[in-house]
Amino acid sequence: MKIGILTSGGDCPGLNAVIRGAVLKGIKSHGHEFVGFRDGWRGLVDGEVLDLPRHSVRGISKQGGTILGTSRTNPFSPGGGPEVIRGHLERLGIDAVIAIGGEGTLAAAQRLTETGLNIIGVPKTVDNDLDATDYTFGFDTAVQIATEAIDRLRTTGESHHRCMIAEVMGRNTGWIALHAGMAAGAHAILIPEQQVSMDQVTEWVTDAHKRGRAPLVVVAEGFVPESAETAHSHRGLDAFGRPRLGGIADLLAPEIEARTGLETRATVLGHIQRGGVPSAFDRVLSTRLGMAAADTAAARGWGTMVALRGTDIVRTGLVDALGKLKTVPAGRYEEAAVLFG
Ligand code: F6P
Repeated sequence: MKIGILTSGGDCPGLNAVIRGAVLKGIKSHGHEFVGFRDGWRGLVDGEVLDLPRHSVRGISKQGGTILGTSRTNPFSPGGGPEVIRGHLERLGIDAVIAIGGEGTLAAAQRLTETGLNIIGVPKTVDNDLDATDYTFGFDTAVQIATEAIDRLRTTGESHHRCMIAEVMGRNTGWIALHAGMAAGAHAILIPEQQVSMDQVTEWVTDAHKRGRAPLVVVAEGFVPESAETAHSHRGLDAFGRPRLGGIADLLAPEIEARTGLETRATVLGHIQRGGVPSAFDRVLSTRLGMAAADTAAARGWGTMVALRGTDIVRTGLVDALGKLKTVPAGRYEEAAVLFG
């Protein structure tokens, strides 16, 4: 079987380990042959591929980014669509596609599967917001990077007796904020799933300051303050029509400063959270998911994705991943909030 692999959407530490896992397992156990599509769905829409022989994946599991490139191209945008893609697959003799991506990518994969294309999904996102998998690879690394950055903000905050705000990614979920905030001992964590008043934030910041601490607030980019109805977005929509988030920390900083009288600084961590080498946990998870994707192709499990359940890698329908976001349960937030202030 000749299989094309693509990495689509925001990049994420562990993508190369998935590619390596799939290629090595596919070649060794099933005699598959592999090619890669350049820049996600764009490579499939334009029919642009590169060969992926065994030696091309040598040593790449520790590399960040993706050797295939990625983009936020929507395969259904003008110039694309199932018939264009089918034409390229037939011309190139490709039997199946392994699509590694987040919610937008997997939704597109599901739509293409419904038109009869042979697609298998591998869930990817630093946001950890995909239902049907316990963890997505990239999340562990993003949390580690964010935690280290927040630890650094704490020391400069302490030197200047300032309140420091760290904004982390996560889109409409607060997983990165919750985990990095908890790991760094934040005095407040603000996430999209929980409405928290500015009075409450002020109280947490003031309490920490009264104890001689430099207050540390971790806010998820998707947090919705009480004065707003939706998450802050000032950079338009992405190719899938979703608002680009980011910048809420810059709005909160002057308000916290005005309410508490404490000099306050905001830092938006941004894409630093997605760069660099994957953690050991993410390398192992990615490699296992890639290997399972190659097995799923051999079993002709089209329309499914591979996922982590407990410590097992399982197969599940792509539709299961798309039904709803995996949000932070209230109990997880309440558990962390006991230590705020
Ligand atoms: O989905 C991953 C993610 O990093 C989100 O946390 C963030 O909102 C978004 O992608 C940023 O996208 P871009 O790289 O297109 O700016």
